[in-house]
Amino acid sequence: MNPPEVLAWRDGHIEALDQTALPHQVAVLRITTVDELVEAITRLAIRGAPVLGAAGALGVALAVHQGGREGWDGARLEAQLNRIADARPTAVNLRREVSAVAAHIPHGRQAVEAAALAVVEFATAASHQISRRGAAYLREACGPGRRLRVHTHCNTGALACLGWGTGLGVIRALHEQGVLEEVIVGETRPLLQGARLTCWELGQLGIEHRLAGDGAGPFLISQGLSDAVVVGADRVAANGDVANKIGTYGLALAAHRAGIPFLVAVPESTIDEATPTGAAIPIELRADSEITVPAAPAGTKALNYAFDVTPADLISAVVTEKRLIPNGQWLNVPVP
Ligand code: MRU
Repeated sequence: MNPPEVLAWRDGHIEALDQTALPHQVAVLRITTVDELVEAITRLAIRGAPVLGAAGALGVALAVHQGGREGWDGARLEAQLNRIADARPTAVNLRREVSAVAAHIPHGRQAVEAAALAVVEFATAASHQISRRGAAYLREACGPGRRLRVHTHCNTGALACLGWGTGLGVIRALHEQGVLEEVIVGETRPLLQGARLTCWELGQLGIEHRLAGDGAGPFLISQGLSDAVVVGADRVAANGDVANKIGTYGLALAAHRAGIPFLVAVPESTIDEATPTGAAIPIELRADSEITVPAAPAGTKALNYAFDVTPADLISAVVTEKRLIPNGQWLNVPVP
């Protein structure tokens, strides 16, 4: 899939694949206002940490256009940028890229657009580097010459990251290298990014995969059905703790117990030096209805955290477009 099909800038507005419609329908959203962008992000039509960063970047260009049309003053523009940055709290990429592109506003609309498009291009290029580095790590860690069975969770492919993706990019690189046997995909309740989006992407790529219920994941790992787990992340704290889709922590515990690698694949922009540990990562709490409907009795209260935090000591390695950080080496691997 080409990046423009996931997210693109079209002469003053954003086009985005509506990820809530997949896999049954390939629908493209035409986003012309900040209201529409915030709505698309909060209902997860646009989602996944690197794509949220790219959408935030393009969102600044969109706001500048809308502000020009509607005569916004500086305070109104800033308030609208904050609405975009706050649309989802856990993925650090969103606020980071809104801030980075907003710094170009004093240089004019063209400078803002160029900066936003650079974020999109960079995310695409980074995904390929992450994919190759992650595949090399897993081949080494699992023992050279083996065909690998990999467990993954949520969606970390082109839909979430542009390019090849991060976690799914690693899987795609293993496939291209002829060393991938199978992918086990966690369904990723309640919004089913694994079942709907990852299975769709893997199907498009012709990659062998089976879908597993979230609750089954740790058991399947304990039964020796996977050689490694690879996931993405929404934020990596300065100490190496990782926030990712709810359910990741259980997979990390199971991988640790089974003695198989647990790899986290992210762009450097997902590493947040300003957040000291996982305890300080804001975890998005979403609507009760996402898990109460349709099964629970009317009026049932819920606890619908969208993400969890995996402590650094359970993570075999974090791979980025610039470096591989093995477990325990966090502070010793400087950004090149
Ligand atoms: O709620 P979502 O679908 O935005 O959650 C996405 C994830 O949890 C991904 O694993 C994460 O953003 C990494 S994407 C490379």
